[in-house]
Amino acid sequence: MQGQPAKKEAEAGRTGPLDELSAVLDSDMRQVNARILKCMESDVALIPRLARYLIAAGGKRIRPLLTLAGASIYNAPMEKVWPLAAAVEFIHTATLLHDDVVDESAERRGQKAANMIFGNKASVLVGDFLFSKSFQLMVESDSLEILGILADAAAVIAQGEVKQLTTANNIETPLAAYMDVIESKTAALFAASCQIGPVLTQAGQEQSMAMRNYGMKIGNAFQIVDDILDYSADPQKWGKDIGDDFKEGKMTAPVIFALESADEVERSFWRRTVGDKIISEGDFEAALDLINRHNGLQKSAELAKAQIVEAKESLALAPTHPMRATLLELADFVIQRAN
Ligand code: IPE
Ligand code: IPE
Ligand code: MG
Ligand code: MG
Repeated sequence: MQGQPAKKEAEAGRTGPLDELSAVLDSDMRQVNARILKCMESDVALIPRLARYLIAAGGKRIRPLLTLAGASIYNAPMEKVWPLAAAVEFIHTATLLHDDVVDESAERRGQKAANMIFGNKASVLVGDFLFSKSFQLMVESDSLEILGILADAAAVIAQGEVKQLTTANNIETPLAAYMDVIESKTAALFAASCQIGPVLTQAGQEQSMAMRNYGMKIGNAFQIVDDILDYSADPQKWGKDIGDDFKEGKMTAPVIFALESADEVERSFWRRTVGDKIISEGDFEAALDLINRHNGLQKSAELAKAQIVEAKESLALAPTHPMRATLLELADFVIQRAN
């Protein structure tokens, strides 16, 4: 992999392979961004105003980059991929709008979350609009199979968010239930993004599953790292509020690991805070102490790392291509990222 220079880059806040993908895929991303801007248009002024507010704030664009990179490996006709990459980012953007309402989050992409500026109702409705737009974009691909893959992903994401709702505040939640939630709410869209290339080019079931599995595993790792960072990120780089998961009583990997070997006093702390959402000043710091006492962040990082090992094994089945090398580096980057 990149070794020392990659580490320095990450420390300087640059993103390594993501930057590299953005540079190599720059002309394709321009096409994708043009479609994103066009699809935000509406006679109802609040729609482009709210959508632009979130989309102009940036975001890593990791899912459309994966879509484009995966398609490049299979020499797919890129003009067919552009609307699909835009659709993928639209699905993601719609889920963010909904997610921040559900999580009562106040910050997103380094600025006030849209729900804080425009209100919950507008966020939910514009999220619905973006979802619908993503389906219009998918239809442009003329492929019923791709439509099926992305429609399935959209349904699975929603299901994952609901599943999460049912595990929140339940301190008995096992790691397997957490893995199930993150695979649905996050990894499914990564998987679909990566599968688009081989499916469009009819590269066969083995290739399509290899790319899908690569996406699924880096998606899992991506969410585990997000959940680690929710307790430990550098506020300057993170762009979201730290401690949101604790505040909402989410049963994420760091808490599950801390609970695994918690004594009775610790369990009663988790029962009060995460379970009953009775949180006072200093509780977040206390939670972080307990997590660290049981190596919760480290164990979570190991869990993410194991997913990355599997992701790379799966990607090795894809054809040799310079973009495949970048996707291998991206797998490592996912567990090193700081935002
Ligand atoms: C945030 O996704 C939601 C998660 C799946 C953790 P990103 O971290 O990709 O968000 P942006 O698009 O870069 O803001
Ligand atoms: C990601 O989960 C949910 C989605 C897939 C939308 P989080 O709730 O952890 O995402 P952030 O931290 O708000 O970005
Ligand atoms: Mg959230
Ligand atoms: Mg999070």
